[in-house]
Amino acid sequence: MLEKKATTEVPINDVMARRWSGRAYDPGRPVEPEKLLACMEAARWSLSCFGAQPWQYVVCDRARDQAAWDAALDCLVEGNRAWAQNAPVLILSVASENFKHNGQPNRWAQHDTGAASISLCLQATDLGLMAHQMGGFDAGKAREVFSVPEEHTPMAMIAIGYQLLQREMPEELHAKEFAPRHRNPVGDHFFSGKWNNSWMTESTGAENV
Ligand SMILES: Cc1cc2nc3c(=O)[nH]c(=O)nc-3n(C[C@H](O)[C@H](O)[C@H](O)COP(=O)(O)O)c2cc1C
Repeated sequence: MLEKKATTEVPINDVMARRWSGRAYDPGRPVEPEKLLACMEAARWSLSCFGAQPWQYVVCDRARDQAAWDAALDCLVEGNRAWAQNAPVLILSVASENFKHNGQPNRWAQHDTGAASISLCLQATDLGLMAHQMGGFDAGKAREVFSVPEEHTPMAMIAIGYQLLQREMPEELHAKEFAPRHRNPVGDHFFSGKWNNSWMTESTGAENV
């Protein structure tokens, strides 16, 4: 398995370090239903404002419903379709924009849906699967083909499946699959007590490189 473990200042949870957005899926290896269910459970037990659980997922498992999977694939932009066509499962995440308990706008709906989605992806990683979220899809088309109601916003497509063996990875995917992963330094995003005051220089004396 091609691993692209995060390089971190200090050790972090292994599943978080190992999760990455691969594109080389094995089209011949479906996802076991119990593993898919485990991914759903992980999202289900995510946290949310007021416990509202403002997420919905349209799960398109090629092994279960080829037509739905075809429709999901058809929503993707060309660049994503090129590799996601080998992912046996495509999932549309949707945020419910209003609270059910009072009908008021839920301004945390998309935040909470994203949180549920990363739980789903981390569970997938833990089960030896790859999960890759995509914003590159036609949200209007997805709304139409999956009958997503008003006041619900299609957020992302998530490809799930097993990674291809390294020796089978097609040439055109090599550059992206083997490219190193990068992140901004911790101090660019974590401030100490006030805006733009890098946590790293303030609290540890360490300079980011
Ligand atoms: C909301 C969202 C939308 C994304 N859209 C795309 C996409 O359309 N196509 C793609 O190849 N990757 C997409 N990605 C994956 C990111 O490019 C990837 O997460 C980022 O480069 C970090 O790489 P890593 O996930 O391997 O750590 C998306 C990720 C997120 C969270």
